[in-house]
Amino acid sequence: MRSLRFPATQGEPLSFANAGMTKQRVAILISGRGSNMAALIAAAGHPQFPAEIALVVSNRPTAAGLAVAGAASVKTAVVDHVPYGQDREAFERALQAELEAHRIELVCLAGFLRLLTPAFLGRWPDRLINIHPALLPAFKGLKTHERALAAGVKIHGASVHFVVPEMDSGPIIAQGAVAVHDDDSVETLARRVLAIEHRLYPATLALVAAGRVTIVDGRCRIDGAKPPELSLIVPES
Ligand code: GRF
Repeated sequence: MRSLRFPATQGEPLSFANAGMTKQRVAILISGRGSNMAALIAAAGHPQFPAEIALVVSNRPTAAGLAVAGAASVKTAVVDHVPYGQDREAFERALQAELEAHRIELVCLAGFLRLLTPAFLGRWPDRLINIHPALLPAFKGLKTHERALAAGVKIHGASVHFVVPEMDSGPIIAQGAVAVHDDDSVETLARRVLAIEHRLYPATLALVAAGRVTIVDGRCRIDGAKPPELSLIVPES
């Protein structure tokens, strides 16, 4: 097993071990600005990163992230949900066709604002992950930073988890924590969490793509993890 280091978007470099040399083909699903997508693309540019970003799909034709992906020479596709109206399954059939056409093996949701049906998720068992801007299981759903401030928590952060039909509830793979400051606004807290998301998501994708994450009784185990290669990031605050 070889040690891999690549520069994280911000902060300290993160360290990984890359068990296999065959890169997993990854699709990133977005709906908006795509800053996490950009962090994943940047990390995957490292020759030893165990995944390649083979496709970015947006359900919104106007998503700013599409241009960012294009500028990084990553293939993009739009599967607009609007023409499908309430027919989620038809939308997902089109999405699945796009993923299959590009021989995708792993899917990362990165600000993808559509709920996926159990039928679709059933096609991607343990191969579809999401980043959520809170320390799950706290603050599932939207407006997480607002709710964290209202609750007065002292630690907040982000989680990467496998996706299951129940929203924000799948097995947690890795988390990144940040301190909440007394004078934080939603914006300052969101900025601090986003910075850690940009480190956490590439680090977690590397673990999943290298086949080092196993789920035991609903809990994720990282094979061969040893400090500082943990599934928890706590930067100095
Ligand atoms: C991030 O905060 C992510 O945690 C959440 O949606 C936001 C997407 O931001 N799921 P971006 O598009 O990656 O910049």
